[in-house]
Amino acid sequence: VKKYPAAITIFGAKGDLTKRKLIPALYNLFIDNHLPTAFNIICVDFLEVNQDEFRQDMLSGVNEFSRNGAAEIEKWNEFAARLFYLQGDFLKNETYGNLNEKIKSFEKEAGQTISRVFYFAVAPRFIETISDALYQHNLCNKENLDRIVVEKPFGTDLETAKKLNRFLGKRFSEKQIYRIDHYLGKEAVQNIMAFRFANYVFEPLWNKKYIDHIQISVSEQVGVGKRGGYYDSSGALRDMIQNHLLQLLCIVGMECPGAYKSEQIRDAKTKVMKSVRPYTNAEVFKNVVRGQYTAGMINDDLRPAYRQEEHVSSSSLTETFVAAKLFIDNKRWEGVPFFLRTGKSMPAQSSVVVVQFKDSPHKIFRDDIVPNRLIISIQPELEISLLFESKVPGLQMKLKPVEMDFTYKESYTETIPEAYEALLLDVLHGDATLFMRADQIEAAWKVVMPILDAWKKYPQKDLNMYKAGSCGPDAAQKLLKPYAKEWFELP
Ligand code: BG6
Repeated sequence: VKKYPAAITIFGAKGDLTKRKLIPALYNLFIDNHLPTAFNIICVDFLEVNQDEFRQDMLSGVNEFSRNGAAEIEKWNEFAARLFYLQGDFLKNETYGNLNEKIKSFEKEAGQTISRVFYFAVAPRFIETISDALYQHNLCNKENLDRIVVEKPFGTDLETAKKLNRFLGKRFSEKQIYRIDHYLGKEAVQNIMAFRFANYVFEPLWNKKYIDHIQISVSEQVGVGKRGGYYDSSGALRDMIQNHLLQLLCIVGMECPGAYKSEQIRDAKTKVMKSVRPYTNAEVFKNVVRGQYTAGMINDDLRPAYRQEEHVSSSSLTETFVAAKLFIDNKRWEGVPFFLRTGKSMPAQSSVVVVQFKDSPHKIFRDDIVPNRLIISIQPELEISLLFESKVPGLQMKLKPVEMDFTYKESYTETIPEAYEALLLDVLHGDATLFMRADQIEAAWKVVMPILDAWKKYPQKDLNMYKAGSCGPDAAQKLLKPYAKEWFELP
């Protein structure tokens, strides 16, 4: 890939994302020599902060959050010399005038065409204003080199997402718009495609004939923390299911694309998303469980109830847990349930995909009772294991399931990049494979809309309370019947 000098602008310099994820990711790309030789990073925000203070703050972010631990001071100084803070109100014209000057002077210094990346690490209400200003000031107009990166939430429902797509579409070409879902940058998530399409042993079994059901579960030990303001108007369905879990469903359920090429992969994913069966109101309450956490203990820590969290209404009906049974109406998956589950304040952090195969059709052993299971663990451990029946050594024919394991720790010495490193580098390279296209994001909203509508219509109905530190409401276990007794938990 030809590396053009890059001017990277981050709107929302003082936000959490910039400090925890974006700057540590860019710094790691820099020390591993992945950034172009000439680059600069301009971080824009409203607050008055001087250059040194800002750089110091970003350094503390790297020291605390980077996968490599504390920064090497010489390297950091080299990096920091290209890191700038620009004070400016997103709503004011002069901000973009100042930004333009900065970028122009970098361009002059570089002495050649540069690529411009504008990262929107801002509250959704600023996306349109900033986009329009970039457009009006001609800041982002080279179709092949200038890009915007838009964080989730992308709209709050189908209508607002469509509106935002139209708004952006009038100002930029689709090629320039990178809608980010950081789950797609996770190493173990990228590996699902390699696992499925580069290994001939699994793909022939990857269908309704051999698969009984699939579980996709992302549990989090954290509560809503300081994000109550945003979360209380969002909820787990919008925050996690509409994006991260449905993206996982697409990767697990998609057909093999014609080639490992951005548009072909995105076509295949969109196609499967469009085949998810929409529910009626009554079906929603039968197939989708919502819950909210009450106070409880996690690792000797008393956690507050959701309703007691900062910036959360004391009578909030927002869900912090969702479990859903979805079907993909196509030839491959007809009748195979995809169970999705996510929740906050659960016993442990764990993201897994579990593919449960059907029972042996003809049993010749009495204790052949455990079906084959493929477990793809995305985090915290990265591993894939296959569960199968085996004879216990001894004089009798007795079976017990065992596991065949592949762990990243044992198989690779390479370090595992953070999702944001992979995704930021893709943006710089102009590779949109792991980003969502307009039609795909709308298709994802179409899947969750009937659920949002049913809950809106019956706001109190079946909101199940679960204790912090538990695995969610009982109704979520019942949802699995008769396919499984319980959700798969990592040991
Ligand atoms: C974000 C959600 O998109 O993903 C958060 O807004 C959630 O609520 C986070 O905690 C989970 O990401 P990860 O990478 O920690 O699993």
